[in-house]
Amino acid sequence: MEKLVSSWSKNKPLPESYIFPPETRPGNLIVPTCKTIPVIDLCNAEGRNRTDIVQQILKASQEYGFFQVVNHGISENLMNESMDVFNELFEMPDEDKVILYSEDPKKSCRLLTSSLNYDREKVHQWRDNLRHPCHPLQDCIKHWPQKPIRYREVVAALSIEAKKLGLRILELVSEGLGLESGYFGDKLSEALHLFVNHYPPCPDPSLTLGITKHCDPNLLTILHQGDVHGLQIFNNEEWIGVEPMPNAFVVNIGNQLQIISNNKLKSGEHRVVTNSRVARTTAAFFIAPSEDSIIEPAISLVGEASVYRAFEYKDFLLDYLSHMGNNEVVLGRFESQSLNNGKRTTHPKGP
Ligand code: OGA
Ligand code: NI
Repeated sequence: MEKLVSSWSKNKPLPESYIFPPETRPGNLIVPTCKTIPVIDLCNAEGRNRTDIVQQILKASQEYGFFQVVNHGISENLMNESMDVFNELFEMPDEDKVILYSEDPKKSCRLLTSSLNYDREKVHQWRDNLRHPCHPLQDCIKHWPQKPIRYREVVAALSIEAKKLGLRILELVSEGLGLESGYFGDKLSEALHLFVNHYPPCPDPSLTLGITKHCDPNLLTILHQGDVHGLQIFNNEEWIGVEPMPNAFVVNIGNQLQIISNNKLKSGEHRVVTNSRVARTTAAFFIAPSEDSIIEPAISLVGEASVYRAFEYKDFLLDYLSHMGNNEVVLGRFESQSLNNGKRTTHPKGP
């Protein structure tokens, strides 16, 4: 509990254990504001604008692995209410947060600091994180926080909507890739996890990170980033900031969608920087395959060669956790030829 950044950081200098080495720290870099990821208007996506929207989604997913969506059908009211509830949660007194805090990896709903790897990592990330599954709702909701009092009601409503939006986008993606309708439905998108990230004001944002550079391991992520800057994506060897937009969701392609598309789409690398003025709270919904799903490139997209071999999603997660932050290494372990060159015969150490 003494680990939670939101509990100890007020008026304290940045501890040594949060200082990243010069090559990964953000420094005083000003990210270009003229460049930003595409904003896609989903209005009429089921009607006369469909072909155009499908093309925009495909292009953004190829170039950036990221885009924002507006007119997505989730009410402004629900978005605001959930942000209020998430902020309230991190503003609760320590005695309420201690109930949620846990270092037990078996606990499905827990509050933690930095990452699952806190005790083993060299440098900690400047974030507190509440995580829990959202599906099947009737099984997992009883483990969710009981305070703030409206948490369960509001977050249940948002998670249902976020899943619907994700499936809608996946349907547009499958159309763009020429896959059959419903390709990503069912087991490939069965799981839903929520991360509520909280980045308190930081005494020196140039030296630390809220989250280090990574790709999301899942299929598709739907992020409500609120109205504070912090998310940056790595594109063409430079960092670009994702502009907060009222009522928009940020959508990004996860590793599994890159693999199933046989590299036609890319999972965008991203990180989170902190700021010294205000706390930033975000909510990321991870749509993911069920753990026993078999993942492989879609047959119709393989063409000459399948870049990846078939594997079980849970094996990917194990490798992802043990090579955190090194996207090339993780993806490389699931490429077709790594089957033959003997690189991968046993499971690596678990998280
Ligand atoms: C994540 C993530 C971005 C943000 O939780 O994987 O990238 O802005 N979050 O909080
Ligand atoms: Ni992420």
